[in-house]
Order: sequence, then C-alpha cells, then structure tokens
Amino acid sequence: MAEKPILLTGAAGALGRWLRPRLVEKYGKLRVSDKIDPAPLGKGEESVVADISSFEQVSRAVAGTRAIIHFGAYSIEAKWETILPANIVGTYNVYEAARLHGVKRIIFASSNHAIGFHETTEKLDADSLQKPDGYYGVSKAFGENMGSMYVDKFGFEVACLRIGSALPEPKDPRHLSTWLSYPDLFRLVTACLDSTRLRFAVLYGMSRNKRSWWDNSKVPEVDYRPEDNAEDYAAQILSHGDNRDPKLPSTRFMGGPYCDIDYLKR
Ligand SMILES: NC(=O)c1ccc[n+]([C@@H]2O[C@H](COP(=O)([O-])OP(=O)(O)OC[C@H]3O[C@@H](n4cnc5c(N)ncnc54)[C@H](O)[C@@H]3O)[C@@H](O)[C@H]2O)c1
Repeated sequence: MAEKPILLTGAAGALGRWLRPRLVEKYGKLRVSDKIDPAPLGKGEESVVADISSFEQVSRAVAGTRAIIHFGAYSIEAKWETILPANIVGTYNVYEAARLHGVKRIIFASSNHAIGFHETTEKLDADSLQKPDGYYGVSKAFGENMGSMYVDKFGFEVACLRIGSALPEPKDPRHLSTWLSYPDLFRLVTACLDSTRLRFAVLYGMSRNKRSWWDNSKVPEVDYRPEDNAEDYAAQILSHGDNRDPKLPSTRFMGGPYCDIDYLKR
C-alpha cells in the first residue's frame, strides 16, 4: 500500500510555502491545507482547504494522513477574539481529529512568545517555565500543553517548536539571539518527523546562534543540527550600534516588542 501523505496546515503561509517543495522532495507526498487556497500545487502535493476553527473541516484535512505539521495559526499578537478560534479552538481540533483518525505524530509550531517574559539574561531549556507575553503566546503555551496531554493520555508523539524569528536573514539586534534560518527550520522539522524516539519534546526553533538564550541539549531524541549562525550578520546589524533602551520590556525580555504592548497599562 502506498504511504499516506504528511499533512501541513498553514501551507499558504510564509514558512509553509518555503517548506513545501523541500518536504515533498524528502517525503514524496504532502497534503497541504490552509483556510485560503494554498495554490499553486507542486508535484507530489494534494490540497484540502480547511478553516481549522471548524472541526468538520479539520477532520477532512487530517483523514488518511500519517503525521501533521501544524503551522496554521493567527501568527501575530491580536485581541483574544481573533486568537481564540484559530489558535485555541483550531489547535484542539487538530489534536482531536488526529486522535479520531489514528494519527499520532504532530509537529506543532509554538513560539518564543510562549516564553516571552523571561529576561534576556537567562538561559532557557526544555524544562523552563512557560511565560507567555500576550494572547498569542498564551495560545502557543496552550498548544504545547494540549500536546503534552495527548502524549500522556493517548500515546501521541509531539514536538513543540518554540520558533524564534524565522526569516531569510536576521535584521535587528534581537534577531542575533532569536534567528532561525529557513534551511535550519527544514532541518528541525525533518529531525522531528524522522525521530524514532519522539514522545513529548519542546525544542527552541533557533539557528546555531552565538548569542542564543536557549539550549536544546535536553532533547537528544531529536537529532537537530543547525548550521547557520546569526553572528555572520552581526557586524552589519550593529554597524550603527545597539540603540535599544535597556529599560524597555522589549529589550529586557525575550519576547521583544510583544512585551511592550499594554505593559503596566492598568
Ligand atoms: N515566522 C516566524 O518567525 C514564527 C515565529 C514563531 C512562531 N511561528 C509560527 O509558525 C507558524 C507559521 O508561521 P508563518 O510565519 O508561516 O505565519 P503566516 O501567518 O505566514 O502563515 C500562517 C497561515 O495560517 C493560516 N491560518 C490562519 N488562520 C487559519 C485558520 N483559522 N484555519 C486555517 N488556516 C489558518 C493563514 O492563512 C496562513 O497562511 C505559525 O503557527 C506561527 O505562529 C512563526
């Protein structure tokens, strides 16, 4: 019997579009899903348009797949009413549809905003406390916890990727600590898909950055070997100095600008 496809949600987004041809090349078959049409389809791709806030639509997207890369989300900070359907209800729908269709492995795009209120002087690892910096960060912390529960209760295999700043190039001083190059994102996602020992893993989605605040060494079951380093861009980024105000929450805390939003507004 032919192998079932891997499902990628959020397939019309920035990271999804970059990953798609590379995932097809490595794994042969990919089902791409998004609430907007993820056309044009490449060779090896099939599409199911689905709004993840609808259980029925998610269920159609999940049926007949063998693993899920869950990247579909409202991907920036927003008011609760915006975050709730896509990131809370949507993430529950993905996990629950996976359970009903017998799909056990989920690679979940979490975010650095799940730990955004840690000070930039700290070093975090897989056991560090969640400290979300807004509603978006809370939704990513929720997705991690939902994964943990589905692992313990239903025998799932879940990797939560606390993605830093996934960009073609780092652009500002904060990115020297948070950058994840696109090729390293691919290395991270495929290391999670290929792991033979995955149960529940929290990994920082970062390149091999010299100024990183994060440490993935507690997760040996995922053989992630990043190759890029934001430091290669440091001279260019810091050519006019680092003009950030050290007292601002966006400088003090890992979540950067999201930490300034409504800070101490009472
Ligand atoms: N790009 C980064 O630096 C970064 C950092 C941390 C986390 N992430 C996470 O990685 C994932 C991908 O990020 P991206 O930069 O490609 O974001 P993006 O906004 O470009 O793509 C997200 C996709 O999700 C889709 N989507 C939104 N609501 C949906 C819904 N209700 N139903 C179905 N699809 C829906 C959107 O249409 C979009 O195509 C997201 O989950 C994001 O939160 C990204």
